Amino acid sequence: CGIVGVTGRENATEILLNGLKKLEYRGYDSAGIYVSDKNSDGYLVKEQGRIEDLRAAVGPEVQGTTGIGHTRWATHGVPSRANAHPQVSADGRFYLVHNGMIGNFRELKEEYLAGTEFVSETDTEVIVQLIAHFVAEGMATKEAFTHVLSLIDETSSYAFLLMDKTQKDTLFVAKKKSPLLIGVGDGFNVVCSDAMVMLSETHDFIELTDGDVVTVTPSSVEIEDVNGQSVTRHQFHVDDDASASEKGAYEFFMLKEIDEQPGVIRGLEQTYLAEDGSVKLADDMMNALNQADRLYIVAAGTSYNAGLVGKSIFEKLAGVPTEVHIASEFGYNMPLLSDKPLFIFLTQSGETADSREVLSKVNQLGYESLTITNVPNSTLSREATYTMLLNAGPEIAVASTKAYTAQIAAETILAKGLGMLKQTAAAADFETGFELTKAANAIQSLVDQKDVVEGLAQKYLGTTRNAFYIGRGIDYQTAIEASLKLKEVSYVQTEGFASGELKHGTISLIEENTPVIAIITDPKTAALTRSNEQEVISRGASVINIVAEELATAEDQIVLPEVHPLLTPLAAIIPAQLLAYYTSKERGYDVDKPRNLAKSVTVE
Ligand code: G6P
Repeated sequence: CGIVGVTGRENATEILLNGLKKLEYRGYDSAGIYVSDKNSDGYLVKEQGRIEDLRAAVGPEVQGTTGIGHTRWATHGVPSRANAHPQVSADGRFYLVHNGMIGNFRELKEEYLAGTEFVSETDTEVIVQLIAHFVAEGMATKEAFTHVLSLIDETSSYAFLLMDKTQKDTLFVAKKKSPLLIGVGDGFNVVCSDAMVMLSETHDFIELTDGDVVTVTPSSVEIEDVNGQSVTRHQFHVDDDASASEKGAYEFFMLKEIDEQPGVIRGLEQTYLAEDGSVKLADDMMNALNQADRLYIVAAGTSYNAGLVGKSIFEKLAGVPTEVHIASEFGYNMPLLSDKPLFIFLTQSGETADSREVLSKVNQLGYESLTITNVPNSTLSREATYTMLLNAGPEIAVASTKAYTAQIAAETILAKGLGMLKQTAAAADFETGFELTKAANAIQSLVDQKDVVEGLAQKYLGTTRNAFYIGRGIDYQTAIEASLKLKEVSYVQTEGFASGELKHGTISLIEENTPVIAIITDPKTAALTRSNEQEVISRGASVINIVAEELATAEDQIVLPEVHPLLTPLAAIIPAQLLAYYTSKERGYDVDKPRNLAKSVTVE
């Protein structure tokens, strides 16, 4: 899931381990490094588990000037030391780390490597064995590397970092569909899948293009394109504040990031709203949006859930029909498109492979697109026509919180700008700055009630097997994200359900004490949802209510300060985020790194 490499530094081991530590937040199940220098034969260390486990396994002798490292999120083969990267060729000469997946690895193995012994179940080992195979047949290392790349089928994705024991200061690099950057230093160079992890070494990065093959030494970076032509690629400077990714006094990043949400929303107001309250967004982008007859929001996970809320906002404020699609579905089963579609990619990381696949198809079809992301220079940002940044600061906890609320706030600003161009009455009446500030204040007051939520988590969610969130309309959209949060970090099987639909089947799952959490912010449907609650109470459920101030009764456990009806998800999600957090803590889990999950999934 993450790659680091360095050449030309005395302390390569330390640089790799620090880099891997910073990649840790993305989620992984094993990790490894290979380092070497002129005087040694090289050291390979791999471990299942945390980077700290790997660090503990690295003895004092493991020193070098050049090396590669990897955190793995299992695709082909279980999490284990054998399946961790670097993968090594049988002759012990080649070391390879890989992000992505090779579609035709079984065919390649059968065709070329019939007699070769394999120690792992990975597609990556097939590639490193193949390189050794062609070198044994007389090819030079780079020639064998490029030849193997040419045998990999179209469905595959990769970011490769290869070392050859006989060329100790050289890194061989290739990328297709998976992110990879070269970081440029003075007398050294680094390679990484995410600029943030190498900011302690350099701030200057080269962006690679799919199909590039690169040879990196301490003093040179030689890039060849897919046709073997020598090329130069765009170099960019990143001046992110690395301290923003420190936990400070917090036990977990998730809570820090929940607390940051009011500030993030105020930051978006400052960036995108002018003094007079009008929207400051690039004219060409707004014109492109204005010309569209339909918006297609494409995203995965929490970003998809932010899209569900966005649909209401775009349709109500801007009056534009809006569809929301799961990226992994949309890419291979495109619906009938309207005459003038515009695509909006919502993505915290800007790297999600499922979304990237859709964007590349959209680009092939010649349509314009906008990426709303938290990561400047991320792949989806670079490859879309337009970008709108969330500026939420690094989100480290795997479970997304501040990116979700930031995405909703960004959609609100965009919809207001678009609605003004379209001269809708709803947009004219909507005071963006006032409403977002009110929402930010509501969030502040909710994060200040942590004790209440912690108590509820302990009372209702500490030991339960399953739970439900219910709501109608926009509250149903919030319920979907609320349930995702809870299941991600607490492993309580949770569903977000349209409250009226529960009785049509799923109510069979309600048992004595099953927690049902109702979100009620819409006066139109409040009474209906409350009556759906009675149906589950009669069947033994324990109910927790998250209710808008104007609709609340004395029994409701969490009362939401008043916000604009379109922005209730910004408030209602906060207690749900906190419930997830405290339930995970109560159960003794590593809140920031839930099992099996990765922060940014760079495989389809
Ligand atoms: C992963 C993460 C989710 C995230 C999703 C989409 O599955 O675990 O938390 O919502 O990817 O990520 P993106 O970076 O595209 O928003």
